[in-house]
Amino acid sequence: MQPIVYLNGQFVPMNQAEVPVMDRGFLFGDAVYEVIPFFNGVGFRLEQHLQRLQYSLDAVGITLDLDLKALFEQLLALNPGPHQAVYLQVSRGVMPQRTLRYGENLQPSVFAYSYPIRMALEGALDQVAGVTAVTVTDQRWGRCDIKATGLLANVLALRDAQQQGAQEALLVRQGYLTEGASCNLFLVERGHVYTPLMDTHTLAGTTRSLLLELLQAAGIDCTEQPIAEQRLQQADEVWISSSTRGVLPVTQVNGQPVSTGVPGPLWLRVAQLFQQFEQQMLVKNEKNDDETGTA
Ligand code: PDD
Repeated sequence: MQPIVYLNGQFVPMNQAEVPVMDRGFLFGDAVYEVIPFFNGVGFRLEQHLQRLQYSLDAVGITLDLDLKALFEQLLALNPGPHQAVYLQVSRGVMPQRTLRYGENLQPSVFAYSYPIRMALEGALDQVAGVTAVTVTDQRWGRCDIKATGLLANVLALRDAQQQGAQEALLVRQGYLTEGASCNLFLVERGHVYTPLMDTHTLAGTTRSLLLELLQAAGIDCTEQPIAEQRLQQADEVWISSSTRGVLPVTQVNGQPVSTGVPGPLWLRVAQLFQQFEQQMLVKNEKNDDETGTA
């Protein structure tokens, strides 16, 4: 069974969805995107994802006039799985010539598809395996705050990590950690949590901001500041975060164990808080269903 995808106003089987070769997303990576998990139809940090999409669209000057929530709802209903992630991409559109200069009033190309996922951190937290990582030079462009589709540097960073037998690349720009190839980064030193400041070299993660809220509510201090690469060596804990992975412990960096090489106590605490947040999302959804009689 082919998944059903959305392309420019239509829902079609994936193998029938085709993009013109002159689409600027295809030619230049002139496009932005989001990846949004939905658990039982409820979007994880949906408003934050939509705000970040708007931020990316504004930054590159693409105007999108579309009811995205309705689009997501239809897409999810057409595809199997209680939990699905939606990939949404908006490119500037198609032009007859391959030219950097873009015309006014182009019709953006909108593509979305969904795929089944598990809830991040589903199940017993003591079964969560630590992630192995290596540091890699951050070779991305200067506007990583825009969630743009040109991900070649991320692809190569992850390839470098895999060639070294590691699962994740931690990116280093001029001696400072920025984030992972597709995730944000946290460090724990002597019971205090740190995460790199968000600027044009980092993507403001929706999961990162949730973790900051959860930590604050639990009275656990977290400081946003530039983090020198060397601090990885002494860190008591390292975590990565993203919508699809939640918050995971990094237990090895550049072949060396992080502290004792097992997930740390503060990670366990924040992972429990994250799990509770996910459970509350589901409960709220059931309540809404009851109230609207759609259960
Ligand atoms: N990536 N930093 C980068 C470079 C990312 O690509 C991502 C997410 C994040 C975390 O953002 P969030 O918590 O909102 O998912 C940080 C998605 C999952 C992806 O590209 O697949």
